[in-house]
Amino acid sequence: MKYNDAFSLFKKDYVFARLKKKAEEMKSLGKEIIDLGVGDLSLPLFKNAVEEMVKAAKSLGDKKTFTGYPPSEGLLSLRKKISESYGNANIGEDEIFISDGAKSDIGDLLELFGKGISVLIPTPSYPVYTEASVFAGNKVTFLPCLKEDDFIPRPPFGKVYDVIYLCSPNNPTGAVLSAKVLSEWINYAISVKAVILFDGAYCDFSEENEPKSIYEIKNAKYCAMEIRSFSKGFGFTGVRCGYSVIPKTLGDYNRLWKRRLSFRSNGVSVISQKGAEAYFSDEGQREVATRIKYYKNNAEIIKIALKKKNLWYNNSCSSPYVFAKTPDGFTSEEFCDFAMEKYGIIVTPCNTFGEGGEGFFRISSFPERQKILRAADVIETIK
Ligand code: MLT
Repeated sequence: MKYNDAFSLFKKDYVFARLKKKAEEMKSLGKEIIDLGVGDLSLPLFKNAVEEMVKAAKSLGDKKTFTGYPPSEGLLSLRKKISESYGNANIGEDEIFISDGAKSDIGDLLELFGKGISVLIPTPSYPVYTEASVFAGNKVTFLPCLKEDDFIPRPPFGKVYDVIYLCSPNNPTGAVLSAKVLSEWINYAISVKAVILFDGAYCDFSEENEPKSIYEIKNAKYCAMEIRSFSKGFGFTGVRCGYSVIPKTLGDYNRLWKRRLSFRSNGVSVISQKGAEAYFSDEGQREVATRIKYYKNNAEIIKIALKKKNLWYNNSCSSPYVFAKTPDGFTSEEFCDFAMEKYGIIVTPCNTFGEGGEGFFRISSFPERQKILRAADVIETIK
């Protein structure tokens, strides 16, 4: 039997599946666990989103309003709302493709380029960029992002790549790419004819003065696709809905993606898409702001505890993750094992985000407040 060789290049379990497994094992031994690992949410869904989904489900259950397959590229009503949300960036509804979340598109979009392309991936960054690229048969080069440079990736002038992954606010570091840095990347990408896959899964966490979308920057439509999700800011990790923007000014990719979707997908659940539409109402936007504030306050509580322990952390205000340095003498994995076994706290070892993450760990601020307060107390006792 023939297997994809890529399976042998990575750990048996994907990082977050591994953390979940460990947590379950500890729980089954009767140990109290506070899980600050995976970026999954604790606040329940927004009531208007729930109401929209119930309405959609009921309409599917009625002979008069029943509909079958949705369009592969997504409901026009949702794509119109997304298009409007881009304002002056002028993204047309026919440049938007609805997905079941950012994670799928991060890998799937690579199908547009074929096998054997060169992919540039900043490190540390979300492990899916690397795993998906290698599984697709591509050559990966890592771009180290350094603590001294606030983990900002800089364009590798003089070198050529086909595809570049960028994420801002970054998972796991929280680093935000300013308009100036994004503009440098855009100029670089255009000069080497590369395509930027811009992961905006955490855009709702951006502060007022920070670019939320790469399309706020001149010429981005000539070199970048943008991937977004309703998961983190709107609580849709369980519902599943996201989208990608492929501008028509970016070669033939827009037409090709539509073609690709037509044979690979029958679209995303109408129920999820109708729920996602609630994001764009005024109440939806107020709800997003409230949720973001809650998670950001959680992150502040964790930072105070780390500060008391004299542990360095990246002081980004634009991320639901606290990216911190392990205490002296610990590798990422050693510290995370120690925190779990001795203190019952699960955090993510950042070497799993690539070599650039070695010596760091990530704390998710998504759990509910009580757990965060408890975790902060425990962090303060770590010896
Ligand atoms: C995370 O970084 O925690 C991810 O969003 C979770 C995942 O990839 O499964």
